[in-house]
Amino acid sequence: MTAPAHASAFAAAAGTGGILLWVVLPYVALAVFVLGHIWRYRYDKFGWTTRSSQLYENRLLRIGSPLFHFGILVVLLGHIGGLVIPKSWTDAVGISEHTYHIGAVVLGTIAGVATLGGLAILIYRRRTVGPVFSATTRNDKAMYLSLTVTIALGLAATVAANAVGGGYDYRETVSPWFRSIFYVQPDPDLMAGAPILFQLHTISALLLFAAWPFTRLVHMLTAPVGYLTRPYIVYRSRDTRLGARPPRRGWERAGS
Ligand code: HEM
Repeated sequence: MTAPAHASAFAAAAGTGGILLWVVLPYVALAVFVLGHIWRYRYDKFGWTTRSSQLYENRLLRIGSPLFHFGILVVLLGHIGGLVIPKSWTDAVGISEHTYHIGAVVLGTIAGVATLGGLAILIYRRRTVGPVFSATTRNDKAMYLSLTVTIALGLAATVAANAVGGGYDYRETVSPWFRSIFYVQPDPDLMAGAPILFQLHTISALLLFAAWPFTRLVHMLTAPVGYLTRPYIVYRSRDTRLGARPPRRGWERAGS
């Protein structure tokens, strides 16, 4: 059987390495992300948790956790704006490239620094608070490393592109490549020409997505979303009607 003409055109332009990185890797990562979550839900429903460590330490957690989570929420919204919404749409509503770029850089840098700062506090806490360190598995350590590398590379790509020269218009390359994956018409050439920091950031993000379902990060896909505002651990008194009175000796009547 002969390969279709467009497949050999791919190979000529992006090279085999380009196809592996910008066609095969994203689909494998996406498939593992989706199937992995289904598998985890079916076989480890009760392990679908953050494994909160709030009981062990609260002071650092109360600073690091909101800083990280609100930071990453803004980063996520920024990625939806930059990767999912085509440039032609923002042009059509009168947002010039310059205005978009300034907004994205300022907001993205603040959010990126907040996320990385929050993560640094959370990792410092994990390492220095004894019981929290004891509750940290190898899986957690690998997850923290992968998360830190991805966020640091994203921030480095943004800062480097703007510190040296007038910024990089990733909405001409990375963004259409990202959408091409979901249209099932992958265009590896678009990524092959992007600056190295953008490429490394994307590769590390794809690897993070593939590992996601097997880590504590599954808590991101948890309903209800009240998660954002509720306490990390829900405390309940022993008996709602009687309050937290000390337990009596012996048997108690059921329903009393
Ligand atoms: C395939 C997935 C991803 C792609 C294609 C992608 C692409 C990009 C691009 C093009 C930028 C530059 C934005 C700018 O200069 O304004 C960026 C920045 C950034 N990315 Fe990603 N990204 C991905 C996933 C992720 C993930 C999973 C995380 C975090 C866990 C992340 C964290 C960041 C951070 C912190 C920045 C710095 C600027 C900001 O706050 O937006 N990215 N990313």
